[in-house]
Amino acid sequence: MTTIPWWQDGVIYQIYPRSFADADGDGVGDLRGIIAHLDHLNDGTPNSMGVDAIWLSPVYPSPGYDFGYDVADYCNIDPLFGTLTDFDRLVAQAHRRGIRILMDMVVNHTSHEHPWFIESRASRENPKRDWYIWRDPASGGGLPNKWQSVFGGRAWEWDEGTGQHYYHMFLKEQPDLNWRNPDARRAVMQAFRFWLERGVDGFRLDVVNAYFKDAGLRDNPPKLGLRSYDRQAHVYDMDQPELIAVYRELNALLAEYGDRMAVGEIMEATHEMVARFSGPGRLPLAFNFDFTRQPWRAPAFRRAVARCEASLAEGGWPCYVLSNHDVPRHASRYGGRFAPQRAKVAAAMLLTLRGTPFLYYGEEIGMRNGRIRHHEIQDPPGKRYWPLYGGRDPERTPMPWSAEPGAGFTRGRPWLPLNEDYREVNVAAQRDDPHSVFSFYRQLIWLRRSSAALRHGSYRALAQAPRRAQVYLREAPGQMMLVTLNFSPRAVEVRLEEALPRAAWRLRLSTNAAAHECLHDGVVLLGPHEACILEAT
Ligand code: NOJ
Repeated sequence: MTTIPWWQDGVIYQIYPRSFADADGDGVGDLRGIIAHLDHLNDGTPNSMGVDAIWLSPVYPSPGYDFGYDVADYCNIDPLFGTLTDFDRLVAQAHRRGIRILMDMVVNHTSHEHPWFIESRASRENPKRDWYIWRDPASGGGLPNKWQSVFGGRAWEWDEGTGQHYYHMFLKEQPDLNWRNPDARRAVMQAFRFWLERGVDGFRLDVVNAYFKDAGLRDNPPKLGLRSYDRQAHVYDMDQPELIAVYRELNALLAEYGDRMAVGEIMEATHEMVARFSGPGRLPLAFNFDFTRQPWRAPAFRRAVARCEASLAEGGWPCYVLSNHDVPRHASRYGGRFAPQRAKVAAAMLLTLRGTPFLYYGEEIGMRNGRIRHHEIQDPPGKRYWPLYGGRDPERTPMPWSAEPGAGFTRGRPWLPLNEDYREVNVAAQRDDPHSVFSFYRQLIWLRRSSAALRHGSYRALAQAPRRAQVYLREAPGQMMLVTLNFSPRAVEVRLEEALPRAAWRLRLSTNAAAHECLHDGVVLLGPHEACILEAT
């Protein structure tokens, strides 16, 4: 029997540490705050969520131009979040509860305040000069090429002191490392080793397909788009063939430490790229962001799943996400007046598909985006593009733990405003309500934990065409589960296109309080926004 690695059948929960829980009262979340809430994540019983791992967005020392995604020291903790001793406590306390820890490795670029960059920019002769991407101006004094920054404007910054430009895919405070330099590459690998030695269980890899750029820095071909960055097809500033060797090296490093993992964030990921970069001998996992772009329609999601299943590389594994710190929360995307109902249907889908589900803090209570006024914007792209684009602060607002002042998040002034509805939408209010979104997440995850079919069984859509529902089968040796999801506010009847492989089915979980028959004579019967999970008996 093959053993399933934990990261294939586990549920992974993303914490944005600034916004999760603030223990020291400075208005910014910290490691001690996370430790204090580990029982919420998994206390070994269905009172808790039952997640298997946490991905921590960056907690390293950082000047914070991109809120931690500009790292000034890969081997330490920012005092804002605590100390390495706090971190060791977090790992120990999490492991005691069966929760693994993933670090966010942001190694496409560093902060401009990282000592490596400070040395690199000191002189052209500095031994670390080549650790970053420096180029002379083009003849006539122009930029080295036409590449643009993701966050707006050109991707080259002039350095007066040494008379060259350096490349930055994001902010000018985030210079890109030169992965072609063997010493820089070794130093980065050492940082991975540092955290593996400290006991972390894996990594989320920031913009993992951007590490290498075309050696000749060729200009990207033009395409249609709104912002200057979108008006280029990014064939030369990312996705280079040299990446595969790095993924192999990383795999070998992980293998030295046992069952550790890495999940890649592929920028502008298509299914083809996910297939190219993940799977055996490549990245263990790569996020599939397709769900973050789908409208609230059953066929849209069904097709997204079909595309994913069809395109994965041999031995590849799906990895679904509905929300993260870069996109509007799905409760807001799909919300409207049906937000809690839709949050449950979305959860039922995410947690019963074949693949590793990533949850984003707060989604377990149906948390929505916060309202951020213009003067409250902190996120650099939000400041640059407002009012066209307000940035990512709305999806990063503090976790509402309770209705008390500060939402149980802080005793101080929160770094971003609390959600206006925090007195109603919070963990405490939902904990004892059997019909809350939070109760549904807990039931769902614990059902998943107990079910081999849901964790790692095969996936088969049973009805290809219904407009309002999804029906699929998950099957592992000895267990078969039927998942039925109604995306609409009306009751639906879905006639299955093939006979069910078993005659008798037992209801395991439903969003509807009143029990009713979900299956009758080859027809699935669902109430408005109902999700039902049945098991063959
Ligand atoms: C992707 C991260 O998810 C995002 O938050 C960050 O701003 C960029 N990479 C740059 O590191």
